[in-house]
Amino acid sequence: MCINPSARRVNLEKTNNFVRMLSRKDFLKLTGAVSLAGMLGEARSQGKLKTKAPVVVSTWDFGLEANAAAWELLVKGGYSLDAVVAGVAIPEKDPAINTVGLGGFPDRDGRVTLDACVMDEQLNCGSVACLEHIMHPAAVAKQVMEKTPHVMLTGEGALKFALEQGFKKENLLTAQAEAAWKEWLKKSEYSPSPNWELNHDTIGMLALDRQNRLSGVCTTSGMAWKMHGRVGDSPIIGAGLYVDGEVGGATCSGLGEEMIRIAASHSVVEAMRSGKSAQSACEAVIKRYYRRRGEAAKGKQVCLLAMDKNGNVGAYSLMPGFVYALTCNGVHEIRKAAYLLDA
Ligand code: GLY
Repeated sequence: MCINPSARRVNLEKTNNFVRMLSRKDFLKLTGAVSLAGMLGEARSQGKLKTKAPVVVSTWDFGLEANAAAWELLVKGGYSLDAVVAGVAIPEKDPAINTVGLGGFPDRDGRVTLDACVMDEQLNCGSVACLEHIMHPAAVAKQVMEKTPHVMLTGEGALKFALEQGFKKENLLTAQAEAAWKEWLKKSEYSPSPNWELNHDTIGMLALDRQNRLSGVCTTSGMAWKMHGRVGDSPIIGAGLYVDGEVGGATCSGLGEEMIRIAASHSVVEAMRSGKSAQSACEAVIKRYYRRRGEAAKGKQVCLLAMDKNGNVGAYSLMPGFVYALTCNGVHEIRKAAYLLDA
């Protein structure tokens, strides 16, 4: 897939009903010239303006449709936590997306295992890891947060809990994903390369609602062909997602093992706490990661996305190709993140 991120903007207020009927491909074809909202976004990222909530941002180009779903709740005055879970439900249920929910590529045993977490502005959080048969792990993570004394449930326990909460047990392995897995089995070589060519991977989303409540979510099927039981960064609070309403939030995409070793999202939030903007916080964390890992980081992708408590957004990645979807003032746009290394 080849995209030109700077060219994609659509006014959702005018096209809301229309957008609902669009396929993902058609949605991405909608283009426009540089908009006032785009210019406002630039001014915001340079710190000249204070963003007015609501704002929603998410990883990769599939974030555009996810943002649209979240935006519907945010403009009605909805809670950011409800908005982000509703937003990521769009890629979670899309069988054509091989990195999240239904249609996610399985592990090397042919099992689709999902990871997800949520966090709100008051440090409430919930998580599920290695969850099978449930299409919407982010919604289950929210239930873990709201209905249990725990933060994280895994595997069989997470499934049991989800079923008790009324989630439907389903087969998430699509024919296409099964065929890809059988093809992989022929050589069984594991060389995880987060797929920046496809412009999707984990979806992480951050939203600030009209009451300035900041929430986040992160949901994925993890690395294709992983060992059964492998858990990535996405369900780990502080790695795939961290939110503190006093400061801001951050989420990640890319090779989970790398984000875990640097507590990536928490590191970004702490950098913002120490006075950095969302953008410079993401850059500082990636630069420190590369300085510490050196050669071991080569060929790996680490993508960071952050929003401060005022809705200012930052993004940065180790390698080129990371794009993110930003929705503000009713305008949806795809932006290209700056990066440290050439491919
Ligand atoms: N970032 C997704 C994973 O590594 O599982």
